Amino acid sequence: MILINGVETDAVSVADRALQYGDGCFTTILIEQGQPRLWPLHLKRLQHTLAALRIAAPDWQALAEQVHRLAAAFPDKGGVKVLISRGAGGRGYSPAGCLDTQVIVSDFAWPSQYQQWQQHGIALGVCRQRLSTSPMLAGLKHLNRLEQVLLKQETQDRGWLDAVVLDADGCVAETVASNIFWRKGQTVFTPSLEACGVHGVMRSHVLGLLAQSQYCTEFVKSPLDELRYADEVFITNALMALVPISEIEGKTFTEQTLLRELNERLYAC
Ligand SMILES: Cc1ncc(COP(=O)(O)O)c(C=O)c1O
Repeated sequence: MILINGVETDAVSVADRALQYGDGCFTTILIEQGQPRLWPLHLKRLQHTLAALRIAAPDWQALAEQVHRLAAAFPDKGGVKVLISRGAGGRGYSPAGCLDTQVIVSDFAWPSQYQQWQQHGIALGVCRQRLSTSPMLAGLKHLNRLEQVLLKQETQDRGWLDAVVLDADGCVAETVASNIFWRKGQTVFTPSLEACGVHGVMRSHVLGLLAQSQYCTEFVKSPLDELRYADEVFITNALMALVPISEIEGKTFTEQTLLRELNERLYAC
């Protein structure tokens, strides 16, 4: 089902700025037993992103109702995507006077391969193409995803399920569609994402869980080599939650101590 501003339709204006300029943001939400997981964090990120892009806020209560309405149709697992566009209007790039925010809520089947990924882990390639430095947009889940389209193409061409993506300086940023964490002893590392990458909802959630644990967290800008010394590596996104990494460029990882601890508490509250 697709709802645009609460109405069941799939028609959008060709003048919509999401189509013209990627002028908007999105989030994808895991649904379990009819409920959107981590909804407060998704909402918070949408609100933060709209404020950063200076897009007029939609009716958040109506959006929450639409998300829960679509979620209710999934008694087991599913997904709901929220896409918010600045709407049609403005002349050229100028968004002046464009206040007709469009909210598109749609549902989709949960990608079934994620269950196997969670259980058995996956090997990561390392993309040759790098993310550009983008201080204006770093962290935001905005609609300009051409880098990810090209990176996905590269991973598919090379037969990988996912791959580490480096920033312009050759430091680890994230993977094609998830954030990355690694542990050495009692310290957990994750890229700081100051110049590129997405501040994932699941990343925020994991950081919250780590803050209440005996582990210490460091936000880093690290070359790929650092991962070779990790005891454990895992990747995160809202849809697949936590996926252990079994191998990166010939280096294997077998420990899952932290991942198991996090999984036990993942949706505990
Ligand atoms: C490029 C990129 N980084 C990170 C993430 C993780 O974000 P989230 O945890 O909000 O799903 C995603 C999710 O799709 C992504 O596309």
